[in-house]
Amino acid sequence: MEAVILHGGQGTRLRPLTHTGPKQLIKVAGKPVSQWVLEQIRDAGIRDVIIILGDNTPTRVVDYYGDGSRFGVRITYVYQGKARGLADAVYKVKDVVSDRFLVYLGDNVVPYDLSKFSSFKGSASILLAKVDNPNRFGVAVIKDGRVIKLVEKPKEPISDLALVGVYGFTREIFDVIESLKPSWRGELEITDALQGLIDRGREVDYEIVQGWWKDTGTPRDILEANAFLLDRYAERKVEGVIENSTIDGRVIIEKGAVIKNSVVRGPTYIGRDTKIVNSYVGPFTSVGEQSEITDSEIEYSVILDRVKIRGVTLMDSLIGNNATVEKGGRWQKLIIGENSSVIL
Ligand code: G1P
Repeated sequence: MEAVILHGGQGTRLRPLTHTGPKQLIKVAGKPVSQWVLEQIRDAGIRDVIIILGDNTPTRVVDYYGDGSRFGVRITYVYQGKARGLADAVYKVKDVVSDRFLVYLGDNVVPYDLSKFSSFKGSASILLAKVDNPNRFGVAVIKDGRVIKLVEKPKEPISDLALVGVYGFTREIFDVIESLKPSWRGELEITDALQGLIDRGREVDYEIVQGWWKDTGTPRDILEANAFLLDRYAERKVEGVIENSTIDGRVIIEKGAVIKNSVVRGPTYIGRDTKIVNSYVGPFTSVGEQSEITDSEIEYSVILDRVKIRGVTLMDSLIGNNATVEKGGRWQKLIIGENSSVIL
């Protein structure tokens, strides 16, 4: 069984962060969202991974993951080109997958044992979760223990069981996709392809998952995914240099980082070669590599790589690679795109 990671999409709700790169490469708890996906796939014993690239700077994805050997998998890349929907993306792997394959949306974080997908009975297998806002998702109607209907982003409330972004497919899905028509949003929907299986009398297995999962479509989702992953996986590891500072709880400080006259409170991640000086970095915060935080206070935020922050207080904020944010004030929900320079 191969695993296919979808790495396309425009990430419109994450602009300006996605003007310069794909949303799946945004780092949460120290790793790109899609690396959490890749490692979850590997840990389920699947070694053959296909990454489907969209048209938003796909070279960045290839540069980061390479042939996969660094992550213990074999990666093949397939270009989707212009985004025409998830079903269009899945169709692109027709010539490279075997009888059964897993599809994982690279912007989702779904803590689930993927090895369970190796033996589903029906023509496809889906995960469902109860949500408060079903109109943002594909939803499934279940009757007598069977999936009887699937609708993408329903306008009328027909079910509160959303399709979580992980699917098991057999090759039958390709026949259905060949006859699909674009939806109202102009896309070939994977939800419609699943409905196509049902229309042909095929069975779609399902499992209702409990607990936390996330489609990281918005800044709020990125912050929540970061907090969840830190909370679940961070174990105290202090490899940087600590001078006159307090490091409380489950804090990861990578090699080359320097923490001086500061307080860092976990769960928190501080990347390689980052400097924190005269500052407070509070719980549920991740700071990327080679960043510098001086005279600042930061909580519940994601600060990406090579960022400079001076003299500000940030909460619930998301700061893109190479950005500079300086001079004063207390800010909540500040979203700064890559390579930006902001004087507050
Ligand atoms: C996509 C799917 C939707 C699914 C969701 C899960 O939505 O189309 O059926 O519920 O992922 O994250 P999109 O991210 O394209 O809005």
